[in-house]
Amino acid sequence: MKKTILMLSIAAFCFSCGGGEKGGDSKSAAGNPDIEKGLDLVGKSNCAGCHKIKETSVGPAFNLIGQKYENTEANINTLAEKVIKGGSGNWGQVPMAGHSEVSKEDAVLMVKYVLSLKDEK
Ligand code: HEC
Repeated sequence: MKKTILMLSIAAFCFSCGGGEKGGDSKSAAGNPDIEKGLDLVGKSNCAGCHKIKETSVGPAFNLIGQKYENTEANINTLAEKVIKGGSGNWGQVPMAGHSEVSKEDAVLMVKYVLSLKDEK
C-alpha cells in the first residue's frame, strides 16, 4: 500500500518536470531606446534605398554588416563617421554616398540599430 503511494508520487513528480519550456530570451531590440531611435532615424533617411535588412542590394545587407563588426564603441564610431562622410572599399567598389545632414549622434544611433540586426535571418 505504502509502495503504491510512493510510486504515484514519483510518477507525479516526473510528470511535472517535463513541461517547463517557457521563458526564452527577453533581450530583443524592442525595448532598447537607442536601437528604437536608430530604427526611426534610418526610416526617415534614405538608407533603405540602398540597404535591406537581410538582402544585399546596392549596399550590403544590414545583418551582414552586423556580423562583420563587433558591437564595440570604436566600431560604432568608425561606422557612424562613414555614414556621414560616405566611402567605399569595405564591401566592394560601390561607394556609399555621404549623409552630411545626419548628426554624429544620430549616425551613432543608426549604427547601433544596424549592428542589432546581426541575428536576422
Ligand atoms: C547610395 C546608396 C546608399 C545609401 C543611401 C546608404 N548606403 Fe550605406 N552603404 C552603401 C554601400 C555601397 C556600402 C558599402 C561601402 C563599402 O564597400 O565600404 C554601404 C555601407 C554601409 C555601412 C558599412 C560601412 C563599412 O565601412 O563597412 C553602414 C553601417 C551603412 N552603410 C549604413 C547606412 C545608413 C545608416 C544609411 C542611411 C543614413 C545608409 N547606409 C545609406 C550604400 C548606401
